[in-house]
Amino acid sequence: MIRIIDCGSQLTQNIARRIREHGVFSTIVPFNSSLKAIMEGNPDGIIISGGQFSVYGKGAPLYAREILDLKIPILGICYGQQSIAFHLGGKVESTPQREYGQNKIILQKPSRLFNGLPQESKVWMSHGDIVSQVPPDFEITAISEGKHIAAMQGSRERANIYAVQFHPEVDHTEYGRNILGNFLEICNAKKDWSTENFVPKIIANIRETVGNKKVIGGMSGGVDSSTASVLLAKAIGDNYTPILINNGLLRKGEAEEVLRTLTPYVKSIKYIDATDRFLKKLEGISSPDEKRKIIGKEFIKVFQEAASGIEAEYLMQGTLYPDVIESVPVYGCSSKIKLHHNVGGLPEKMGLKLIEPFRDLFKDEVRQIGEKLGLPKELVWRHPFPGPGLAVRIIGDVTKEKLDILREADTICVQELKARGIYYNISQAFAVLTNASSVGVMGDEGNYQYVIALRAVTTNDFMTADWYDFKKEDLGAIATRIINEVKGVNRIVYDITQKPPATIEWE
Ligand code: XMP
Repeated sequence: MIRIIDCGSQLTQNIARRIREHGVFSTIVPFNSSLKAIMEGNPDGIIISGGQFSVYGKGAPLYAREILDLKIPILGICYGQQSIAFHLGGKVESTPQREYGQNKIILQKPSRLFNGLPQESKVWMSHGDIVSQVPPDFEITAISEGKHIAAMQGSRERANIYAVQFHPEVDHTEYGRNILGNFLEICNAKKDWSTENFVPKIIANIRETVGNKKVIGGMSGGVDSSTASVLLAKAIGDNYTPILINNGLLRKGEAEEVLRTLTPYVKSIKYIDATDRFLKKLEGISSPDEKRKIIGKEFIKVFQEAASGIEAEYLMQGTLYPDVIESVPVYGCSSKIKLHHNVGGLPEKMGLKLIEPFRDLFKDEVRQIGEKLGLPKELVWRHPFPGPGLAVRIIGDVTKEKLDILREADTICVQELKARGIYYNISQAFAVLTNASSVGVMGDEGNYQYVIALRAVTTNDFMTADWYDFKKEDLGAIATRIINEVKGVNRIVYDITQKPPATIEWE
């Protein structure tokens, strides 16, 4: 197992994922963790992440220096390299010549970390500060195009410490995977982390935890709750009751589709159509916050009613590892645990114990499990859909008429993306019913109808996102079909804003 010390980089989770891809389990702890917490479970090695700070900056995420006295292999990445130099008596300076983006390293000395690499290779850098002088007992193992220290390595007492200025955890670094693989070799880490043996392990865990007690869970049709439900059903059969609530804000035919797809795997699904209740509560409400609150509250009520006769002791939640990683406190938000919007607050209210089969896993690992269980590709690779559903894709108040218009537009959008083979290149795509109307002409008549906005983004973590660069004919085809087939819409616009500053959803 490898422990990753998070110094605030957005790429820290990438490091953990890459290490796991190599078959070695990895977990992330914040930089200010105690030595005991860092060494818990006896990691085979430690990686110190990057971060946007300067080691000299106020509030820099400086971990305890004693970590570097541990006698296990240590790899510092970017800020990780600078902080090692800082702690061990090297020199770190800011440079007017920032290195950002594609760069090159030129190897200077043989190093186990660079086994199998050519003399020169492409890397990705993102830093203002550089190590200008390595600490005593360290030597330079690679330099960058600008002749800065791109990698260093300890000797004698420090022979277990390696550091690189670039980011081996991103795809733009040509031999990034090899470098991390070499580090795992140095660590002598056992490669026994594989989704191959997850299914029996998770099933055994569930059985051991819940025994013959009853479990309930929310089912949304998303990959996490669906995959978890299939595992629960395999583990404890009818003692598990997933509750699928139709809040009237789902996509066209969605509830039926979820039932049709999952019933063969999970016999005991309890389906509740609460459309009228939700729409009544939403009447006349325009504020996004209000909508979310109302939907969340109503969801809890409906869920509690549905669960009342079941006498469950456990609540299944599809919590993922990124939801429970303790954030680095330099951002001012220590230990923030995000709960799924819809079920947040349920366990406390209902006095249920939690069962979270995916608490240690990343989404791509859950997808692998879903595939292993034989779930259809459409489900496993489905774009995420927010808990409050189409209510946050209708700007202004939600009515049945608006929902019907948006459902038709959304269906066309998804159908075309799939037919054109681009759905799976996009992380999330959807239509938004704006509260703008515009003048149009159809035939000889003028009209005044809704403007639909299309949103399509690519992203790794949904924290930042870029808009998808459609081919003209693909975007054009979606727009034309919506105009031709959806009554009440006469104009389509495409949202070309990145996140940040915009969010992915419009509300
Ligand atoms: P934003 O709009 O914040 O969205 O950039 C990031 C991701 O989160 C989803 N999202 C939600 N999911 N309840 C949810 O379950 C919500 O209230 C909610 N708001 C946004 C959004 O679809 C995107 O995947």
